Amino acid sequence: NNHTYCSMVIFGATGDLAKRKLFPSIYNLYKKGTLDKNFAVVGVARREWSDEVFRENVTASLQDSNISIEGDLTEFLSHFRYLAFDVTNAASYQDLHELLNSLEQEFSIPGNRMFYMAMAPEFFGTIASYLKSEGVTNEQGWNRLIIEKPFGHDFASAQKLNEDLRQAFAEDEIYRIDHYLGKEMVQNIGVIRFANAIFESLWNNRHISNIQITSSESLGVEDRGGYYDTSGALRDMVQNHMIQMVALLAMEPPIRLTTEEIRSEKIKALRALRPMTKDEVKQYFVRSQYGPGSMNGKEVPGYRSEPKVNPESRTETFVAGKLMIDNFRWAGVPIYIRTGKRMQEKSTKIVVEFKELPMNLYSKSENNVHPNLLIIHIQPDEGISLILNGKKIGMTDKTTPAKLDYCNHCIDGINTPEAYEKLLNDAIHGDATNFTHWDEVALSWKFVDVISEAWKEDTSSEFELYPAGSMGPKAADELLAQDGFHWWPIGDDSDYSI
Ligand code: BG6
Repeated sequence: NNHTYCSMVIFGATGDLAKRKLFPSIYNLYKKGTLDKNFAVVGVARREWSDEVFRENVTASLQDSNISIEGDLTEFLSHFRYLAFDVTNAASYQDLHELLNSLEQEFSIPGNRMFYMAMAPEFFGTIASYLKSEGVTNEQGWNRLIIEKPFGHDFASAQKLNEDLRQAFAEDEIYRIDHYLGKEMVQNIGVIRFANAIFESLWNNRHISNIQITSSESLGVEDRGGYYDTSGALRDMVQNHMIQMVALLAMEPPIRLTTEEIRSEKIKALRALRPMTKDEVKQYFVRSQYGPGSMNGKEVPGYRSEPKVNPESRTETFVAGKLMIDNFRWAGVPIYIRTGKRMQEKSTKIVVEFKELPMNLYSKSENNVHPNLLIIHIQPDEGISLILNGKKIGMTDKTTPAKLDYCNHCIDGINTPEAYEKLLNDAIHGDATNFTHWDEVALSWKFVDVISEAWKEDTSSEFELYPAGSMGPKAADELLAQDGFHWWPIGDDSDYSI
């Protein structure tokens, strides 16, 4: 089983991601025995920390997270080392190489090395080329690179970054993280579709009228204003997480459940995404930004007053859009997406709306039959709901919507730490299924670039702000109304009567 024995080098080990997600995930994998005696973690960053200070920080990060710590941490922490590092200096890489060699001896690790880029992306290329030239990516075991977003800020920069990385790592050694692919219910999309006859047989344009994907957040930009103001919701959420969910919903059934087959179907679905002209962008994509408003009865400032945000910023904190997939399965079925910060609640949901029957037998006395809906609850609650029609109780022939709920994992709270844990576990085992292939990244940037270029050119129109705490601007509702649809409510006790 020693193909999972490895050293993990974390670039950016003093940063937020390492603290909030990586250390707790490593600890959980340790508790579960995936990481046992034969592993080492090397934290690498600019700061001059000792091993002791590093270990104190790891301990603090476990205490701050919501995971449960069992017993004494001494053995666990003995696998952690710290190296003060200058990413532009060859000597740092030589030190790293030596340290890894000695840790491999100490913990009987057969040369497997994982490099985790948990830092600002500008040095990724430099790091990759030094890892190669200084022989840190060795030939004795496997070498894997795990890389966080942003993977470029448009197609050209993503391509440049990819070429830089490819100096040291082959495509099948690069694990591009999209943490949504580690979420339980995102992974469940395949099972819901391909293990249930009642869904897969209806999963097409004959039976589905539209699909709605909402990922709303209640937080604002917090302390990430500097990054976010140069990014915006389109790059931050749509290019990666939202488009990945579209690909999983739209792809054809793979011929088997291997990484290659699944990827190849996702790539085909993305190739069928209808490209837009700039005029169509105006028609099909809505951008907006939060203004001042209130969250749970508390006044909150607008985006332009957030720290490190340009007071005249035109960066969008909300995007809604209509995507079309031009293939036999999906022709004519709009897929609507919507995501934003400082919205009413934190929630990610997919609503699949089925077409109506050829006629409504129950139409007397304004009795509306409700469209059937399949709702996939991704977070915070995890499960699926099915909206059906039943008979109203009593001496009436009226119908009423009935909701069947399947709750996968009814806990409150954000499940991203678990997502990281799963993805880290996959990467240790060499399973790249839930990571994005370069072709997926390239196709989604090409799709998104048209939108950002159209927006950049359109400096004249002032876009409508939405009040913090709302569900976004009116234009997002009009987007669906043009097609005769509306956003279905996504709250947990939503009323589906029409
Ligand atoms: C990240 C974005 O990729 O996803 C953040 O950079 C966003 O801006 C986050 O808040 C949302 O993830 P989750 O798991 O909380 O829905």
